[in-house]
Amino acid sequence: MNLITKRLQLREWRDADREPFAEISADPAVMEFLIPLQREKALGEWIDNQINHMQAHGFCFWAVERKEDGIFIGTVGLRKVGYEAFFTPAVEIGWRIARPFWGLGYAPEAAQACLQFGFDTLNLSEIIAITVPSNLKSRRVMSKLGMAYNPNEDFDHPLVPKGHYLRRHVLYRLLRDQWQNNN
Ligand SMILES: CC(C)(COP(=O)(O)OP(=O)(O)OC[C@H]1O[C@@H](n2cnc3c(N)ncnc32)[C@H](O)[C@@H]1OP(=O)(O)O)[C@@H](O)C(=O)NCCC(=O)NCCS
Repeated sequence: MNLITKRLQLREWRDADREPFAEISADPAVMEFLIPLQREKALGEWIDNQINHMQAHGFCFWAVERKEDGIFIGTVGLRKVGYEAFFTPAVEIGWRIARPFWGLGYAPEAAQACLQFGFDTLNLSEIIAITVPSNLKSRRVMSKLGMAYNPNEDFDHPLVPKGHYLRRHVLYRLLRDQWQNNN
């Protein structure tokens, strides 16, 4: 299942994406607000998990390619939240774009296609997004997508160790009805 936007193609993963994905995940600017991802895991397990998620559920964090030149620029997509929290079960939207391609609106463009797929095709009633409070770029994308933030729903991520500086998270929500009203 591929999703097409004006400038991008969200497609299934290829082995040729593994090295560039590992490079993106080794960039300290990209990973500033993310738990480090070992090179071996970026090359193997992380992408394998997306492929398995696609087979199991029909969606995942897709590989994102720029249409004009076929360059792999990162990943944007949907996945089932893999831990228990007050807002689960839930499907989350997320993104990771290579540094040279920031600021061009690629993440929101790809994310809009994911929201449309999630609401119109998967018939989800809500899609959420999470990040750490200081990740303003990611929060900006959430806002641009029309997602709503409630400070009363800040939470400690159960998979991040107690005391870790990335443990506290913010939660953004988007209901299908809200999204359909805005689009
Ligand atoms: C968050 C991210 C996906 C945004 O992707 P993007 O395609 O650049 O999105 P946009 O072009 O809409 O830019 C979003 C905001 O980032 C900021 N930004 C854009 N380019 C930037 C740059 N070169 N340097 C610093 N900030 C920049 C701006 O505030 C922008 O908001 P604006 O459009 O109102 O000016 C990208 O920055 C990224 O991959 N970050 C690292 C991974 C990450 O944190 N993922 C989210 C985990 S929850």
